[in-house]
Amino acid sequence: MCGIIAAVAQRNVQGILLEGLKRLEYRGYDSAGMTVLHEGALTRHRAVGKVAALADCLEGAPLPGTAGIAHTRWATHGKPTEANAHPHHSGDTVAVVHNGIIENFEALKRELEAGGHTFTSQTDTEVIAHRLADVLAGGVGLFDAVKQTVDTLGGAYALGVMSPQEPGIVVGVRQGSPLVVGVGIDEAFLASDPLALLQVTDRFIYLEEGDMVELGAGGSVHIVDRDGRAVERPVRIFEYADGVASKGDYRHFMLKEIFEQPKVISAALEGRLGEHSVPAESFGPEAPALFAQTRQIQIIACGTSYHAGLVARYWLERYAGVPVQVEVASEFRYRHPVVAEGTLFVTLSQSGETADTLAALRFAKGLGYVGSLAICNVPGSSLVRESDIALMTHAGPEIGVASTKAFTTQLVALMLLTLSLGKCKTTPNGEHAEIVAALKTLPAICRQVLALDGEIEALSQAFAEKHHALFLGRGAHFPIALEGALKLKEISYIHAEGYPAGELKHGPLALVDSEMPVISVAPNDDLLEKLKSNLQEVRARGGQLFVFADESVGIDDSEDDVTVLHLPRVHEALAPLLYTLPLQLLSYHVAVLKGTDVDQPRNLAKSVTVE
Ligand code: F6R
Repeated sequence: MCGIIAAVAQRNVQGILLEGLKRLEYRGYDSAGMTVLHEGALTRHRAVGKVAALADCLEGAPLPGTAGIAHTRWATHGKPTEANAHPHHSGDTVAVVHNGIIENFEALKRELEAGGHTFTSQTDTEVIAHRLADVLAGGVGLFDAVKQTVDTLGGAYALGVMSPQEPGIVVGVRQGSPLVVGVGIDEAFLASDPLALLQVTDRFIYLEEGDMVELGAGGSVHIVDRDGRAVERPVRIFEYADGVASKGDYRHFMLKEIFEQPKVISAALEGRLGEHSVPAESFGPEAPALFAQTRQIQIIACGTSYHAGLVARYWLERYAGVPVQVEVASEFRYRHPVVAEGTLFVTLSQSGETADTLAALRFAKGLGYVGSLAICNVPGSSLVRESDIALMTHAGPEIGVASTKAFTTQLVALMLLTLSLGKCKTTPNGEHAEIVAALKTLPAICRQVLALDGEIEALSQAFAEKHHALFLGRGAHFPIALEGALKLKEISYIHAEGYPAGELKHGPLALVDSEMPVISVAPNDDLLEKLKSNLQEVRARGGQLFVFADESVGIDDSEDDVTVLHLPRVHEALAPLLYTLPLQLLSYHVAVLKGTDVDQPRNLAKSVTVE
């Protein structure tokens, strides 16, 4: 998604802005640009493609100056072209960078064209620049001009604005898209993500919805809320050390993040497990009262996070006795849900800024839920701030667009919720203590699975020339099959589908032939024998089977149509977590073989802050 960075400093800001853009690359983008105020004039470069292309332009013709704004664009209105890249200018008067969507831009554009403005791009953003120029022409100061302009905008946006009429200040606005202020020593910054600024500061102010900010000389930061009142927002220290945005010795962020899972699963568990149970207080001081009122759960999320929610439904119903509904946010937010008494609203999100999930939470607030819980990886994110209680997943920054460690730590958090709610409800279930014990050994077992990397890499050869793949699982492993398919399609561009194995004969079996690899996870659980029958159905149709099976599971792999890779024993409840790992590695190696852009797959963005 689009990324914003801005700086007002006493030194040249070009390097700061460029480094910030590089750090925003992981969000996904198709073009980049920068405007710096130099000797009273707006100077700009824009380039299609990677930030490196912009860096090349800057090398040829640097943009010196102490105040500037820059942007990575993820196209919504208009193709990725130089003319559509930000910053957008209105003549020599004003420059704007924008994240989000202006829903009423067509009406505004017609008005502005009628008023004599000529548009040079197909973007919604350009209307903001021209409207600002009109207001500034009336003698209004930049801050008030931005206020008057945003009052006419519909939709969601974060903006960074500068003008030679007031050199040395940058104005920012946050309305539906994230924006943070970086507090430096005698300098101040804006960004859509603190990661963009870790090279210059670890102190951040997270703007609230509707806030406007003016960054000025000497690092001054002036914030007003949506009602125009001056406000002080707390300065928070970013908890991760710099260096998180580096690949280390790994070839890709995705691989690094896959291998970080034992460590971050430990972090997600740390301080949250009792000897035999999970205290509700692990979810914060308000959680015990909230959980005591909880009779059922509505889980809302998107993409991979939604798959975590689907796994949790199996867990919460079996181990906590709590009925659960799970739905993707983009559907839920436009439904007319009937909310049963005592329903807890749970959102799952790596970023905490996913527009649909955030909108679903806001929509849910008027519907009579007993409260809201966010399970999220980014402290200070909108979802966390707007929920009644939150549990951080502690995965650390996830840079690869394909979610890996964020997913498994969400699963850990959801198992903690299961055990905690089960306890609150005093569901008689002797297994809780066993699961708590198993959770403590989980990081070590994950390490053993990751040690199979070489074998999985060898297996990936069989997929490189294929165009389709089917992933099968049963019970709580059906969502793991969905997640395996999503990972493969998003980074290798191989068309993949996840199915409950029992559903195969109701349609997808028609697709199975020697060109269709079928991947299945086969832990040793109650459904194993049923799964084995389903796998026979595949073999009988000439399908090529790849099975990740528990070490105790015997599957005849004497014929070359079946490949079995054995995984170490794990408590049945935790198997969905463990069986995710080989599927992540498989997708990764297939993508590397196919030569795709593993960390920034085409058309995708890390943080989906538009609807
Ligand atoms: C897939 C992936 C996406 C995200 C989805 C939700 O690998 O990463 O499907 O899971 O966009 O994002 P969050 O979890 O940030 O709300």
